[in-house]
Amino acid sequence: MKKRSIETEVVHAGTRQPMPEGMPNSTPIFTSSTYSFPSMEEAERVFSGELDDFIYSRYGNPTVAALQESVRVLEGGAAARAFSSGMAALHAALLVCDLQPGSVILASRDLYGATFALISKIFGSFGVVAQQADFSELTELRERAAEFKPQVLLAETISNPLLKVLDVAAVGEIAHSLGARLVVDSTFSTPYLSRPIEFGADIVVHSATKYLGGHGDATGGVVVLRDATDEPALTSAMKLIGGVLSVWEAHHIARGIHTLALRLDRQCQNAEKLADALSGHAGISKVYYPKFADDGIPDRVLRPGLYGAMVSIVLARDTREAAWKFMNSLELVVRATTLGDVFTTVSHAATSSHRELSPERRAELGISDGLVRISVGIENIGDIRADIEQALEKALSDQ
Ligand SMILES: Cc1ncc(COP(=O)(O)O)c(C=O)c1O
Repeated sequence: MKKRSIETEVVHAGTRQPMPEGMPNSTPIFTSSTYSFPSMEEAERVFSGELDDFIYSRYGNPTVAALQESVRVLEGGAAARAFSSGMAALHAALLVCDLQPGSVILASRDLYGATFALISKIFGSFGVVAQQADFSELTELRERAAEFKPQVLLAETISNPLLKVLDVAAVGEIAHSLGARLVVDSTFSTPYLSRPIEFGADIVVHSATKYLGGHGDATGGVVVLRDATDEPALTSAMKLIGGVLSVWEAHHIARGIHTLALRLDRQCQNAEKLADALSGHAGISKVYYPKFADDGIPDRVLRPGLYGAMVSIVLARDTREAAWKFMNSLELVVRATTLGDVFTTVSHAATSSHRELSPERRAELGISDGLVRISVGIENIGDIRADIEQALEKALSDQ
């Protein structure tokens, strides 16, 4: 080999070493954005699809692929693709659903506000019609579905912030009786608590920013398909829109998933203890927690004995001032518009997730100004309770 100059060696020396023979026990972080092949003939075999291999990171990356496989297995799906956020994942999931101008997406009225804005504004600008129904009222849902003949039914396994659990099997039946797909955002329940595909969901979406990552340090989303025939459309949405997951985020999320079961066990136990302790508290008029539902759905849909790690409370003085006073008085619990992290967080629906809605609409949905949502973390439950109770005292003493 001809001797190269230092300007060339700094670029090439030491790169493209053979991969180790030994299997790395944790997934390596493949930062390379492209891959090269021994010859153009070999490259052609990959480009033509004859050989399944990596070419370019927007088309696929080994670290991201490992995360996709992990979530696919956990959800029991046929294929999974990862995206740069939960919203990007929802967008891609809906693109799989053969929507045309005039197609209807029938969405749960409790849907995350940004998701409803995605379907009404972005998909709406292409002629797709967004309609809403109360997915906890199956008779109403059946009627609305028969009226609108939707192409897609879209809902969340556990609604925000009132924490109603979706009867996935019943809603799936309604969707399928009309030839529609059921798309379920399972961010709040995770595959540890519920596997919607087993109940008949066609597409499951996660904001991996939440429980899957679990540490508040990664933003991402995942789509899982029940049916392998939807995979080309999902992959095409990923490649052409390009909202792919960064390899670093994939690493963090995949690492978070290794402790998902441990975290969720502790978080759900903490949440249950907190919900029990806060029920009947003088500073609180209502506690929302799936365990308290009287429809029996949480016991059918969620892992037995676990009811999720979100608790919503309505302060006795049901005002924004009281909610903010309570939140401002917290010393351990973090004020943040997120959920699912190892640390306990609180958010105020009326001025965060649901601030775009008119006060009248919020009232219709049962989201009052004194409602605070608590995402319970893995800390010692005594410390969480003590902080929440001292903040409630302060909110009460202000009356
Ligand atoms: C239920 C649900 N779905 C989707 C999203 C969007 O996820 P991301 O923020 O990762 O885009 C959120 C964000 O809060 C959410 O709560």
